[in-house]
Amino acid sequence: MGSVTATSPIQLRPAPVTTAATPRLRVDNVTLQYKTPSGSTFTALDKVSFDVPDQQFAVLVGPSGCGKSSLLYLTAGLAEPTSGDIYVGGQQVDGPGADRGMVFQGYTLFPWLTVRKNIEFGLKRRGMPAAERKEIVEFYLNEVGLSRFADNYAKQLSGGMMQRVAIARALANDPQILLMDEPFGALDSQTRLQMQQLLLKVWEHSKKTVLFVTHDIDEAILLGDRIFVMGARPGRIKEVLDVPISRPRNLDMVMDPEFIRMKRNIFHLLHDGPEEHL
Ligand SMILES: Nc1ncnc2c1ncn2[C@@H]1O[C@H](COP(=O)(O)OP(=O)(O)O)[C@@H](O)[C@H]1O
Ligand SMILES: [Mg+2]
Repeated sequence: MGSVTATSPIQLRPAPVTTAATPRLRVDNVTLQYKTPSGSTFTALDKVSFDVPDQQFAVLVGPSGCGKSSLLYLTAGLAEPTSGDIYVGGQQVDGPGADRGMVFQGYTLFPWLTVRKNIEFGLKRRGMPAAERKEIVEFYLNEVGLSRFADNYAKQLSGGMMQRVAIARALANDPQILLMDEPFGALDSQTRLQMQQLLLKVWEHSKKTVLFVTHDIDEAILLGDRIFVMGARPGRIKEVLDVPISRPRNLDMVMDPEFIRMKRNIFHLLHDGPEEHL
């Protein structure tokens, strides 16, 4: 056990104040177009608008190619919209920044660093004193159940453990928002369930605002407060659904009648349209 209890998560700095008028994330009329090799224009995202208030777990669910990753990249500041704007904490996004934590599917750890040094990386770069760094790293090692593996090299870890480190590293930086792009997509189904359970627990403690991308309907409902169901060609938001399932949640809830009702609803939204094919 770390010296910090799970009920007193560390705040590095107070998060900028947001109100209903300034949500943690605002996506405002965002269109993204790519030029195709033949010279025509492909619309990956068409006038997408939505807000994510502070402490909400928001999920984008939709078929492959509907623009989920594009939307996350734009929010991360790794690409620019063709038109429209994105604001994080009221500030317009105009490039990458430490205020947005990212956990993507491909493993993004430094394989030659230990677990501890991976989690510590951003804090060290920011010049945080060693004692403070240690406290935060111990806290998050404990949160993701990796205290015993703190001094293992990242390259020695299983896929699930690597993603635990990635989550700990992102949260240790105390970002305004956590951006997660199919973070469990490459894991076997058993590990995936364990990771969903772990994320539910960690999120209960941190209540960090999250924008989570998945094409898995169960995962979307299990984790999310609000689900944005997307459609393709062009990529857009088809429906916004609030998840009527109380927290704390557990994996058993996938069998609740409310869960199944919502799953059926989303399934039809994703598969009934004439333009969508599996
Ligand atoms: N750099 C690019 N150039 C051209 N088309 C792209 C590029 N990146 C993505 N696309 C296209 O944009 C659409 C949305 O892609 P993406 O955001 O990756 O969707 P998703 O994550 O929902 O599967 C896809 O049809 C994809 O082929
Ligand atoms: Mg994607």
